[in-house]
Amino acid sequence: MGCKEDYSRKISERFWSQKDKGDLESQREETFIDDIVQKRHIERELLCSLDGIKTVFDGGGGSGRFSILLAKYGCRVTHYDISQSMIDKAKENAKAEGVLDRMEFVKGALEDIDRFPDHSFDLVMSFDAPVSYTYPHQNEVIKHLVRMAGKRIMLSVSSRLGYLPYLANPIQKNQFILNPECEDAWVKWCISNREQSIKDFIFDGEQVKRLYENGLSGGDWEIAEYERGESPWCITYTFLPDELKSILQACGVKNIALAGPGAYARTIPNELLVKIMNDPKQKEEFLNFCYVFDSNPYVCGMGKDNLLVKGDI
Ligand SMILES: C[S@@+](CC[C@H](N)C(=O)[O-])C[C@H]1O[C@@H](n2cnc3c(N)ncnc32)[C@H](O)[C@@H]1O
Repeated sequence: MGCKEDYSRKISERFWSQKDKGDLESQREETFIDDIVQKRHIERELLCSLDGIKTVFDGGGGSGRFSILLAKYGCRVTHYDISQSMIDKAKENAKAEGVLDRMEFVKGALEDIDRFPDHSFDLVMSFDAPVSYTYPHQNEVIKHLVRMAGKRIMLSVSSRLGYLPYLANPIQKNQFILNPECEDAWVKWCISNREQSIKDFIFDGEQVKRLYENGLSGGDWEIAEYERGESPWCITYTFLPDELKSILQACGVKNIALAGPGAYARTIPNELLVKIMNDPKQKEEFLNFCYVFDSNPYVCGMGKDNLLVKGDI
């Protein structure tokens, strides 16, 4: 591949190399309930798919939430990420978990994975949308991830149907705040900006229609700024469930299953979610049922940020 336009790489590297990114990514489940639901769903899906898996590639592995888990289960993991600060954080976490010797850390962009041979890992995975940050190369990146996989592929990408309701709800993240008293800067921002965000809100039919049609998290002006390499973060490409399925089918992936983590939790108000999370028994039962509900292919569109897909090679 060696993708021609290099703005997605440049912007991702700049954005994800900010100093506090690794720490923030490591603390997400302590502050937001939707992150707890998503992490639990992916963990569960991974652990029931490890049969015959000895080697793993984690593309955009971040602070190591999933790469370290699989190393703890005995896999040899190549943790690949564009950001040196994320890799440093992942190494620190892997050391604390005693699995450094089972992991290799490689700095690089998903846009450049053509250097890895065919079928070089039993399982190829990439979670929480790194593929979506490679726009306009997302389809090429998926093809290469499949090519590198020997047995199984598991990805989560930005979900178009899950993302669209945000455009009618600027306070969506408030629903998932676990503890309003906590010191986290994002939590504080969500709380202090709530009223103003409601006051300033106008439903923009054109914006919703555009995202529904082109899947891009930005208008013409933002896309032009991105293509000049000047925007602060990447334009995200959001996928539709059928679209993602077709791309994988065209690459020869079989037994494709889609899920929409966060779909069940999204229907419940904050006060009740917090109550459930603060009671260990209810929390376990709730997370178990979220997994069942969110795994139903018909709720893919109701999921939250991510669309999860797994399949066999
Ligand atoms: C939201 S985090 C997810 C991290 C991890 N997969 C997880 O679920 O905890 C996205 C990660 O993708 C990495 N990333 C973003 N764009 C990338 C690219 N083009 N190539 C490789 N990694 C990328 C970022 O540095 C960051 O660590």
